[in-house]
Amino acid sequence: MDDPVWDEYRQLINDRLAHYMKQDADCPNRLREAMSYSLLAGGKRLRPLLVLMTCEACGGDIEAAMPAACAIEMVHTYSLIHDDLPSMDDDDLRRGRPTNHRQFDEATAILAGDALLTLAFQVIAEDTRPADVAAACCADLASAAGASGMVGGQVADLAAEKRFTSNLDAAGSRTNAEKSEDVNSHSEAFSDSPQTLEQLEAIHRRKTGRLLSSALTLGGRIAGADAETLDALNNYGKSVGLAFQIADDLLDISGDQAKMGKGVRKDADHGKLTYPGLLGLDQSRQRAQALIDDACRWISPLGESGQRLDALAQFVLERDH
Ligand code: IPE
Ligand code: IPE
Ligand code: MG
Ligand code: MG
Ligand code: MG
Repeated sequence: MDDPVWDEYRQLINDRLAHYMKQDADCPNRLREAMSYSLLAGGKRLRPLLVLMTCEACGGDIEAAMPAACAIEMVHTYSLIHDDLPSMDDDDLRRGRPTNHRQFDEATAILAGDALLTLAFQVIAEDTRPADVAAACCADLASAAGASGMVGGQVADLAAEKRFTSNLDAAGSRTNAEKSEDVNSHSEAFSDSPQTLEQLEAIHRRKTGRLLSSALTLGGRIAGADAETLDALNNYGKSVGLAFQIADDLLDISGDQAKMGKGVRKDADHGKLTYPGLLGLDQSRQRAQALIDDACRWISPLGESGQRLDALAQFVLERDH
């Protein structure tokens, strides 16, 4: 990320997150340690940056948006802790460190995730003003994170993993090593199945898109944006959110583990239903680029004040981590 303002805002976000981790004297030490371990381990802070930059683009004050920015990062971090659990993606590395359940234990990781999710709503409810905006932000974030949003998407992701694996096994009983070496052959297996592409898009929109696009709604709401602007921001968020997960799927294949700070080349081994698995690398990149172009068109009415959002959308595709 090259814009110096991104660094400056990321620092503000990190400082505020650290502040929230110090509150609540009654929190057991080990739980606080586990929550801070993942929350303060870095990460791109894309979602809170989007909250702050959207608020600013709509003429609001970033300080007013800081609690919601921290809240969305808490929800995101909880989703990562749980996503890495043995019962889900079973990963060992996250944000350049052992995953939460590896560093602590599985029960602590589950509970640290639960506590971060709960704290997110406390922070918005207590620190966002006025109260009706706080209530609307809580409702937006709950809907994006919950059963019809991220959690629902994670359920569908795991269900599709089992189906995808069994389809491939039925097609040729391939070993995990063969699966990971031959990503493009997945596209042949499903090229005659448009329903699967629709299913994949539905999964990605929920598991990643909904939370990411709620960053835009939160920032816009706090700035007092009108309904038409909120709608355009939501459309930008949906496109960027989907492109973000396509880029994540591509980085699983071509990314560098040291830069990413998480395990790579795991999706094919797990039989994950992914864009490159289904469409191949080139078409996936084209689809992601088209989504980013769409996103930028949606916010063009914001003019100059939308420029930072434009640059963030481009970053989603160009990133290497
Ligand atoms: C990873 O999210 C999980 C997905 C939704 C694909 P990020 O790539 O934003 O992870 P951090 O926050 O930078 O660690
Ligand atoms: C995770 O998607 C989306 C979440 C809701 C956390 P992935 O499983 O692809 O994320 P990574 O690749 O582990 O970061
Ligand atoms: Mg996952
Ligand atoms: Mg994962
Ligand atoms: Mg991934």
